[in-house]
Amino acid sequence: MNARHRIAALGGKGGNMAISKAETVVRSDSARVGFIGFGNMATAMAEGFIASGKVAASRIYACAGNYQRLIKRAEAMGVRPRKDAESLVASSDVIIVAVKPHVVPEALAPVAKKLGDKPIISVAAGWSCARYEELLPGTHHISTMPNTPVAVNEGIVVCESTHTLTERQEKLVRSLLESLGTVQDIDSSLMSIAGTISGCSPAFVAMVIESLADAAVKYGIPRALAYPLVSQTVAGTAKLQLANGTHPGAMKDAVCSPGGTTIRGVAALEEAGLRSAFIKAIDAIEG
Ligand SMILES: NC(=O)c1ccc[n+]([C@@H]2O[C@H](COP(=O)([O-])OP(=O)(O)OC[C@H]3O[C@@H](n4cnc5c(N)ncnc54)[C@H](OP(=O)(O)O)[C@@H]3O)[C@@H](O)[C@H]2O)c1
Repeated sequence: MNARHRIAALGGKGGNMAISKAETVVRSDSARVGFIGFGNMATAMAEGFIASGKVAASRIYACAGNYQRLIKRAEAMGVRPRKDAESLVASSDVIIVAVKPHVVPEALAPVAKKLGDKPIISVAAGWSCARYEELLPGTHHISTMPNTPVAVNEGIVVCESTHTLTERQEKLVRSLLESLGTVQDIDSSLMSIAGTISGCSPAFVAMVIESLADAAVKYGIPRALAYPLVSQTVAGTAKLQLANGTHPGAMKDAVCSPGGTTIRGVAALEEAGLRSAFIKAIDAIEG
Protein backbone atom coordinates (compact mmCIF):
# COMPACT_ATOMS: atom_id res chain seq x y z
CA MET A 1 0.00 0.00 0.00
CA ASN A 2 1.55 3.34 -0.97
CA ALA A 3 1.36 6.56 1.06
CA ARG A 4 -1.62 8.00 -0.78
CA HIS A 5 -3.58 4.77 -0.42
CA ARG A 6 -2.68 4.48 3.23
CA ILE A 7 -3.76 8.06 3.89
CA ALA A 8 -6.98 7.60 1.94
CA ALA A 9 -7.68 4.39 3.89
CA LEU A 10 -7.25 6.27 7.13
CA GLY A 11 -9.68 8.87 5.86
CA GLY A 12 -7.75 12.01 6.80
CA LYS A 13 -7.54 15.30 4.91
CA GLY A 14 -3.95 15.93 3.83
CA GLY A 15 -2.90 12.68 5.43
CA ASN A 16 -4.32 13.36 8.89
CA MET A 17 -4.94 10.13 10.69
CA ALA A 18 -7.27 9.63 13.62
CA ILE A 19 -5.61 10.10 17.01
CA SER A 20 -4.87 6.76 18.55
CA LYS A 21 -5.19 6.39 22.32
CA ALA A 22 -1.58 5.26 22.49
CA GLU A 23 -0.30 8.40 20.77
CA THR A 24 2.27 10.36 22.73
CA VAL A 25 1.13 13.95 23.20
CA VAL A 26 3.91 16.54 23.05
CA ARG A 27 3.32 20.29 23.17
CA SER A 28 5.27 22.46 20.75
CA ASP A 29 6.54 24.67 23.59
CA SER A 30 8.07 21.68 25.36
CA ALA A 31 9.05 19.49 22.40
CA ARG A 32 12.65 18.31 22.14
CA VAL A 33 13.78 18.71 18.55
CA GLY A 34 16.52 16.45 17.14
CA PHE A 35 18.42 17.07 13.92
CA ILE A 36 19.96 14.13 12.05
CA GLY A 37 22.61 16.11 10.14
CA PHE A 38 23.65 19.51 11.44
CA GLY A 39 24.99 21.43 8.45
CA ASN A 40 23.85 24.67 6.83
CA MET A 41 20.11 24.00 6.72
CA ALA A 42 19.83 22.45 10.16
CA THR A 43 21.86 25.27 11.70
CA ALA A 44 19.63 27.87 10.03
CA MET A 45 16.51 26.11 11.38
CA ALA A 46 18.00 25.78 14.87
CA GLU A 47 18.91 29.48 14.86
CA GLY A 48 15.32 30.28 13.82
CA PHE A 49 13.80 28.10 16.57
CA ILE A 50 16.03 29.73 19.17
CA ALA A 51 15.50 33.30 17.88
CA SER A 52 11.71 32.87 17.85
CA GLY A 53 11.73 31.56 21.42
CA LYS A 54 9.78 28.51 20.21
CA VAL A 55 12.48 25.97 21.07
CA ALA A 56 15.17 26.75 23.61
CA ALA A 57 18.70 25.73 22.56
CA SER A 58 18.76 23.32 25.48
CA ARG A 59 15.87 21.39 23.88
CA ILE A 60 17.64 21.06 20.52
CA TYR A 61 19.75 17.94 19.85
CA ALA A 62 21.93 17.11 16.88
CA CYS A 63 24.03 14.33 15.40
CA ALA A 64 26.22 14.50 12.30
CA GLY A 65 28.90 12.64 10.35
CA ASN A 66 31.92 14.05 12.21
CA TYR A 67 31.35 14.23 15.99
CA GLN A 68 34.27 16.57 16.78
CA ARG A 69 33.10 19.09 14.18
CA LEU A 70 29.53 18.74 15.47
CA ILE A 71 30.58 19.45 19.07
CA LYS A 72 32.12 22.79 18.05
CA ARG A 73 29.14 23.82 15.94
CA ALA A 74 26.48 22.68 18.40
CA GLU A 75 28.09 23.98 21.56
CA ALA A 76 28.63 27.42 19.99
CA MET A 77 24.83 27.63 19.79
CA GLY A 78 24.04 25.89 23.08
CA VAL A 79 22.63 22.91 21.15
CA ARG A 80 23.21 19.40 22.55
CA PRO A 81 25.39 17.13 20.42
CA ARG A 82 24.70 13.39 20.29
CA LYS A 83 27.22 10.78 19.15
CA ASP A 84 24.87 8.90 16.83
CA ALA A 85 21.37 8.77 15.41
CA GLU A 86 20.23 6.21 18.03
CA SER A 87 20.97 8.45 21.00
CA LEU A 88 19.59 11.42 19.04
CA VAL A 89 16.26 9.67 18.50
CA ALA A 90 16.14 8.57 22.15
CA SER A 91 16.62 12.23 23.24
CA SER A 92 14.09 13.82 20.86
CA ASP A 93 10.31 14.10 20.45
CA VAL A 94 10.48 15.41 16.86
CA ILE A 95 13.14 14.27 14.37
CA ILE A 96 14.35 16.53 11.56
CA VAL A 97 16.20 14.75 8.74
CA ALA A 98 18.74 17.30 7.44
CA VAL A 99 21.42 15.27 5.69
CA LYS A 100 22.23 15.48 1.96
CA PRO A 101 19.61 13.60 -0.08
CA HIS A 102 21.90 10.69 -1.04
CA VAL A 103 22.81 10.16 2.67
CA VAL A 104 19.19 9.75 3.89
CA PRO A 105 19.01 5.90 3.69
CA GLU A 106 22.41 5.44 5.38
CA ALA A 107 21.66 8.02 8.11
CA LEU A 108 18.24 6.54 8.94
CA ALA A 109 19.14 2.84 8.70
CA PRO A 110 20.32 2.55 12.36
CA VAL A 111 17.08 4.08 13.69
CA ALA A 112 14.50 2.70 11.26
CA LYS A 113 12.99 0.47 13.97
CA LYS A 114 13.36 3.02 16.78
CA LEU A 115 11.32 5.93 15.48
CA GLY A 116 8.05 4.65 16.97
CA ASP A 117 5.36 7.31 16.71
CA LYS A 118 7.80 10.25 16.69
CA PRO A 119 7.02 12.75 13.93
CA ILE A 120 9.74 13.06 11.29
CA ILE A 121 10.25 16.28 9.34
CA SER A 122 12.40 15.80 6.25
CA VAL A 123 14.13 18.75 4.58
CA ALA A 124 16.05 16.59 2.07
CA ALA A 125 15.44 17.63 -1.53
CA GLY A 126 13.68 14.97 -3.59
CA TRP A 127 12.57 12.92 -0.56
CA SER A 128 8.81 12.84 -1.10
CA CYS A 129 6.18 11.23 1.10
CA ALA A 130 6.04 8.27 -1.30
CA ARG A 131 9.83 7.73 -1.04
CA TYR A 132 9.70 7.79 2.77
CA GLU A 133 6.88 5.27 2.70
CA GLU A 134 9.22 2.91 0.87
CA LEU A 135 12.16 3.59 3.20
CA LEU A 136 10.30 3.81 6.52
CA PRO A 137 6.88 2.21 6.09
CA GLY A 138 4.46 2.85 8.93
CA THR A 139 6.28 5.89 10.32
CA HIS A 140 4.88 9.40 10.71
CA HIS A 141 6.64 11.78 8.34
CA ILE A 142 6.25 14.97 6.35
CA SER A 143 8.48 16.18 3.51
CA THR A 144 9.34 19.88 3.51
CA MET A 145 11.69 22.37 1.85
CA PRO A 146 12.71 25.30 4.03
CA ASN A 147 15.08 28.07 2.93
CA THR A 148 17.95 29.77 4.74
CA PRO A 149 15.98 32.91 5.83
CA VAL A 150 14.39 30.60 8.44
CA ALA A 151 17.42 31.60 10.54
CA VAL A 152 15.83 35.05 11.03
CA ASN A 153 12.24 33.77 11.10
CA GLU A 154 11.59 35.10 7.59
CA GLY A 155 11.79 31.79 5.76
CA ILE A 156 9.27 29.94 3.72
CA VAL A 157 8.77 26.27 4.47
CA VAL A 158 7.11 24.42 1.62
CA CYS A 159 5.31 21.30 2.93
CA GLU A 160 4.08 18.38 0.86
CA SER A 161 0.34 18.22 1.46
CA THR A 162 0.46 14.41 1.41
CA HIS A 163 2.05 13.13 4.61
CA THR A 164 1.52 10.49 7.27
CA LEU A 165 1.35 12.67 10.41
CA THR A 166 -1.59 12.33 12.74
CA GLU A 167 -3.72 15.40 13.38
CA ARG A 168 -1.91 16.16 16.65
CA GLN A 169 1.51 15.59 15.13
CA GLU A 170 0.62 17.90 12.25
CA LYS A 171 -0.45 20.60 14.71
CA LEU A 172 2.83 20.23 16.61
CA VAL A 173 4.95 20.23 13.43
CA ARG A 174 3.08 23.21 11.97
CA SER A 175 3.51 25.18 15.17
CA LEU A 176 7.27 24.51 15.08
CA LEU A 177 7.63 25.37 11.40
CA GLU A 178 5.48 28.51 11.66
CA SER A 179 8.04 29.92 14.10
CA LEU A 180 10.50 29.91 11.19
CA GLY A 181 8.40 32.05 8.83
CA THR A 182 5.59 31.19 6.41
CA VAL A 183 4.39 27.62 5.96
CA GLN A 184 3.02 26.79 2.51
CA ASP A 185 1.33 23.48 1.71
CA ILE A 186 1.99 22.24 -1.82
CA ASP A 187 0.66 19.33 -3.85
CA SER A 188 3.19 16.50 -4.30
CA SER A 189 3.42 17.18 -8.05
CA LEU A 190 4.66 20.75 -7.39
CA MET A 191 7.04 20.04 -4.50
CA SER A 192 10.15 19.92 -6.66
CA ILE A 193 9.66 23.26 -8.42
CA ALA A 194 8.32 24.98 -5.27
CA GLY A 195 11.36 23.78 -3.32
CA THR A 196 13.68 24.91 -6.10
CA ILE A 197 12.17 28.40 -6.21
CA SER A 198 12.17 28.92 -2.43
CA GLY A 199 15.29 26.91 -1.58
CA CYS A 200 17.61 28.12 -4.36
CA SER A 201 16.41 31.70 -4.79
CA PRO A 202 18.24 33.01 -1.68
CA ALA A 203 21.45 32.37 -3.69
CA PHE A 204 20.07 34.20 -6.73
CA VAL A 205 18.76 37.12 -4.67
CA ALA A 206 22.12 37.32 -2.88
CA MET A 207 23.75 37.64 -6.33
CA VAL A 208 21.34 40.48 -7.18
CA ILE A 209 22.24 42.20 -3.90
CA GLU A 210 25.96 41.75 -4.55
CA SER A 211 25.64 43.07 -8.12
CA LEU A 212 23.67 46.19 -7.16
CA ALA A 213 26.12 46.82 -4.31
CA ASP A 214 29.03 46.55 -6.78
CA ALA A 215 27.33 49.19 -8.92
CA ALA A 216 26.88 51.39 -5.84
CA VAL A 217 30.57 51.00 -4.98
CA LYS A 218 31.50 51.82 -8.60
CA TYR A 219 29.82 55.20 -8.11
CA GLY A 220 31.46 55.97 -4.78
CA ILE A 221 29.26 54.42 -2.06
CA PRO A 222 31.43 52.70 0.58
CA ARG A 223 31.07 48.89 0.57
CA ALA A 224 29.80 48.84 4.18
CA LEU A 225 26.94 51.15 3.24
CA ALA A 226 26.23 49.53 -0.13
CA TYR A 227 24.97 46.20 1.30
CA PRO A 228 22.40 47.57 3.79
CA LEU A 229 21.27 50.11 1.18
CA VAL A 230 20.56 47.37 -1.35
CA SER A 231 19.36 44.68 1.09
CA GLN A 232 16.81 46.98 2.72
CA THR A 233 15.57 47.98 -0.75
CA VAL A 234 15.13 44.31 -1.69
CA ALA A 235 13.49 43.43 1.66
CA GLY A 236 11.22 46.50 1.54
CA THR A 237 10.13 45.84 -2.05
CA ALA A 238 9.33 42.20 -1.20
CA LYS A 239 7.38 43.27 1.91
CA LEU A 240 5.38 45.81 -0.13
CA GLN A 241 4.48 43.13 -2.69
CA LEU A 242 3.46 40.70 0.06
CA ALA A 243 1.44 43.35 1.92
CA ASN A 244 -0.57 44.56 -1.08
CA GLY A 245 -0.39 41.60 -3.45
CA THR A 246 0.38 44.13 -6.18
CA HIS A 247 1.51 42.79 -9.55
CA PRO A 248 5.31 43.20 -9.69
CA GLY A 249 4.95 44.82 -13.13
CA ALA A 250 2.73 47.52 -11.59
CA MET A 251 5.33 48.07 -8.85
CA LYS A 252 7.98 48.55 -11.54
CA ASP A 253 5.70 50.93 -13.49
CA ALA A 254 5.12 53.01 -10.34
CA VAL A 255 8.85 53.81 -10.17
CA CYS A 256 9.27 54.50 -13.91
CA SER A 257 8.24 58.03 -14.83
CA PRO A 258 7.93 58.75 -18.57
CA GLY A 259 11.31 59.68 -20.02
CA GLY A 260 12.82 59.21 -16.56
CA THR A 261 15.94 57.51 -15.28
CA THR A 262 14.50 54.23 -13.93
CA ILE A 263 13.01 53.22 -17.29
CA ARG A 264 16.46 53.62 -18.81
CA GLY A 265 17.78 51.13 -16.28
CA VAL A 266 14.84 48.80 -16.97
CA ALA A 267 15.61 48.93 -20.72
CA ALA A 268 19.28 48.12 -20.02
CA LEU A 269 18.28 45.11 -17.87
CA GLU A 270 15.94 43.87 -20.62
CA GLU A 271 18.76 44.20 -23.15
CA ALA A 272 21.04 42.18 -20.85
CA GLY A 273 18.39 39.43 -20.67
CA LEU A 274 17.58 39.65 -16.93
CA ARG A 275 14.25 37.81 -17.13
CA SER A 276 15.48 35.01 -19.38
CA ALA A 277 18.61 34.65 -17.18
CA PHE A 278 16.42 33.83 -14.15
CA ILE A 279 14.18 31.49 -16.13
CA LYS A 280 17.28 29.73 -17.48
CA ALA A 281 18.61 29.36 -13.92
CA ILE A 282 15.47 27.44 -12.99
CA ASP A 283 15.63 25.43 -16.27
CA ALA A 284 19.20 24.45 -15.32
CA ILE A 285 17.87 22.90 -12.08
CA GLU A 286 14.51 21.51 -13.14
CA GLY A 287 14.94 20.94 -16.87
N1 LIG B 1 21.14 24.56 2.19
C1 LIG B 1 19.95 24.94 1.81
O1 LIG B 1 19.66 26.11 1.51
C2 LIG B 1 18.82 23.92 1.75
C3 LIG B 1 17.51 24.35 1.47
C4 LIG B 1 16.47 23.41 1.51
C5 LIG B 1 16.75 22.08 1.79
N2 LIG B 1 18.04 21.70 2.01
C6 LIG B 1 18.30 20.28 2.28
O2 LIG B 1 18.95 20.17 3.53
C7 LIG B 1 19.75 18.99 3.52
C8 LIG B 1 21.11 19.33 4.11
O3 LIG B 1 21.72 20.31 3.29
P1 LIG B 1 22.87 21.23 3.87
O4 LIG B 1 23.08 22.29 2.86
O5 LIG B 1 22.56 21.59 5.28
O6 LIG B 1 24.09 20.18 3.82
P2 LIG B 1 25.42 20.19 4.72
O7 LIG B 1 25.74 21.57 5.17
O8 LIG B 1 26.44 19.43 3.94
O9 LIG B 1 25.02 19.33 6.01
C9 LIG B 1 24.85 17.94 5.98
C10 LIG B 1 24.96 17.42 7.39
O10 LIG B 1 24.75 16.00 7.37
C11 LIG B 1 25.74 15.39 8.23
N3 LIG B 1 25.92 13.97 7.90
C12 LIG B 1 26.62 13.41 6.89
N4 LIG B 1 26.53 12.07 6.95
C13 LIG B 1 25.74 11.78 8.02
C14 LIG B 1 25.24 10.57 8.61
N5 LIG B 1 25.51 9.38 8.08
N6 LIG B 1 24.47 10.66 9.71
C15 LIG B 1 24.15 11.86 10.26
N7 LIG B 1 24.58 13.04 9.74
C16 LIG B 1 25.36 13.00 8.64
C17 LIG B 1 26.97 16.23 7.98
O11 LIG B 1 27.94 16.00 8.99
P3 LIG B 1 29.52 16.21 8.67
O12 LIG B 1 29.65 17.58 8.07
O13 LIG B 1 30.15 16.06 9.99
O14 LIG B 1 29.85 15.13 7.69
C18 LIG B 1 26.34 17.63 8.05
O15 LIG B 1 26.17 18.02 9.39
C19 LIG B 1 19.84 18.49 2.08
O16 LIG B 1 19.10 17.31 1.95
C20 LIG B 1 19.21 19.60 1.26
O17 LIG B 1 18.46 19.11 0.17
C21 LIG B 1 19.08 22.58 2.02
